Amino acid sequence: MSFDFAARVERVEPSATLAISNKASELESDGVDVVDLSVGEPDFPTPENVVSAGQDAMAAGHTGYTPSNGIPELREAIASKLRDDGIDAESDEVIVTPGGKQALFETFQTLIDDGDEVVLLDPAWVSYEAMAKLSGGTLNRVDTAPYDFQLEPALEDLEAAVSDETELLVINSPSNPTGAVYSDAALAGVRDLAVEHDVTVISDEIYQQITYGVEPTSLATLQGMGERTVTINGFSKAYSMTGWRLGYLHAPESLVSQAAKLHSHSVSCAVNFVQHAGLEALEHTDEAVLEMRDAFRERRDMLADLFAEHDVDVPVGDGAFYMMLPVAEDDQEWCAGAIEDAHVATVPGSAFGSPGYARISYAASEERLREAVDRLAEHGYI
Ligand SMILES: Cc1ncc(COP(=O)(O)O)c(C=O)c1O
Repeated sequence: MSFDFAARVERVEPSATLAISNKASELESDGVDVVDLSVGEPDFPTPENVVSAGQDAMAAGHTGYTPSNGIPELREAIASKLRDDGIDAESDEVIVTPGGKQALFETFQTLIDDGDEVVLLDPAWVSYEAMAKLSGGTLNRVDTAPYDFQLEPALEDLEAAVSDETELLVINSPSNPTGAVYSDAALAGVRDLAVEHDVTVISDEIYQQITYGVEPTSLATLQGMGERTVTINGFSKAYSMTGWRLGYLHAPESLVSQAAKLHSHSVSCAVNFVQHAGLEALEHTDEAVLEMRDAFRERRDMLADLFAEHDVDVPVGDGAFYMMLPVAEDDQEWCAGAIEDAHVATVPGSAFGSPGYARISYAASEERLREAVDRLAEHGYI
């Protein structure tokens, strides 16, 4: 039988990152040693105390449904963490979700109607475009590539894009795929535009704890932004908990009560014992976070130096664990060749809206990063 698919699913493409990792798996199953720098996940185990908390919670019988928006202790701990960041947060303004991705998905579905304008800063994480399209939104994209991926010099371009027609603006600092951490002046510029044009802003802060020598500002702390910001965060990156699936959104209660309808009718709740593990992560896991952060910083510096030795100047950000390597104009061909010939997996910049680059995740050991650079050089890719 031929299915009559909904227009919404036909509007989106499968994730480009997945296509690369499929190719890497295919080569690996043929016995090829692939250096996979395409995946956006820390290569560290989940901290032991968090694993134990999850196991203990399971053993203690925390295996049933929880209140849809999350267990009260975790919602309160999240609100308290947000208050520490300077956000005026209460626990009833928090929804605990299975991953930050679900929190983002619920936000798009709650706010965007057919034809509503969503403004993205390119290069932008791949799923924002898909989420906007799935909810019927139209995209308006502002390119930060000409400004080494910084927002402050791109503010004039953003000003030209944002208007009274704009429903939603997405800010992701520290950024995937560039690692850029936006300055306070840049965020103030975002605030001025959002307030002037009455725009809601998603502030995706999933890489907040992974920064090098800078303190990222939460957008919702800026005057006038608390009432129009949806703050997204999660446990995947900071605590190396990608497979646990745990994240959250914080927004004004009026928005939370609408999003909660989607949440309860789709996922019901995040996994019960995982929420208990999340509580342990938030309250008792500072050291492991700092160790991972220091390791990422060393890798970033080493990788940038290795590329510099080959006369490749890579714009390096102050956060997350990604960098955008300038490559050939046809970045898709470059990435396909790099994996085929050099057995190094990266993601084409065009998947993020910025052709001419390849995104590298440096969440890999120093040895594997060296190996990747050697192979790319040996096969003439740098
Ligand atoms: C920018 C950004 N936001 C959100 C997410 C979602 O992460 P998770 O659903 O694992 O919490 C990711 C994951 O790669 C990301 O890179």
